[in-house]
Amino acid sequence: MELNLYTRAGELPEGNIKGTHVVVIDVLRASSTMVQACENGVERIIPVAGVEDATRLAPTLEKKNALLGGERDGRMIEGFDLGNSPLEYTSKAVKGKTLVLSTSNGTVAITQSAAAKELIVGCFLNLGAVVAHVLSSRPKKITLLCAGNQGRLSLEDLVCGGLMVRKISESFGGKLVLNDGALAGGALAGTMTDIGEVVRESSHGRLLAELGFEADLDFCSRIDRSTSVPVVVDGRISGEDACRR
Ligand code: MLT
Repeated sequence: MELNLYTRAGELPEGNIKGTHVVVIDVLRASSTMVQACENGVERIIPVAGVEDATRLAPTLEKKNALLGGERDGRMIEGFDLGNSPLEYTSKAVKGKTLVLSTSNGTVAITQSAAAKELIVGCFLNLGAVVAHVLSSRPKKITLLCAGNQGRLSLEDLVCGGLMVRKISESFGGKLVLNDGALAGGALAGTMTDIGEVVRESSHGRLLAELGFEADLDFCSRIDRSTSVPVVVDGRISGEDACRR
């Protein structure tokens, strides 16, 4: 099996995604927010790239059940219902709702990966469940796509992807062919083992702390807090896919 890790969304060679199982990793915070929304009973998530994509979609949804969520520069988008802090996505806020989510990097990486055979949202919170899920379909090729930040590498995404590489390598019985990103991520995750520190010290972590989101850093650092595996089918995480366990 081929196991490839790309350290940021722009690094993925065009056409290389078709027919592969893709895990989009955006620890801070899009993936963590979606996993938390699933945990708390969201009915459907529609990840979109642009703010205008979200506002265009909103009037087509049943008003009382629709929520607009997301961020630009870490802050809630004007006129939206929620920002991108996973802690806002309580069961009171999201249960039974359709969430349209637009974030700077995470939802962009998801929409760019639409050609994947299976498209999964992963982070520290659901790391073990994602690995078990992706291996259960006996894939020929897995792509771990770190969203990064504005075209640059994000440490927390790389360490999370690296931990997935290590876990897949431990669990998979057959021959594995790793690209350089997977080798590098796996090695890094073997040395940077204090996940709380990784997330706090990362540049995105420091920025979020400055904006007052310290609690998010702690929350997003927790490994295997959730067994939800959000799977994007036809651009939506919905119905029984919303919280595959
Ligand atoms: C992203 O998509 O890059 C993140 O969700 C940004 C953030 O929450 O600060």
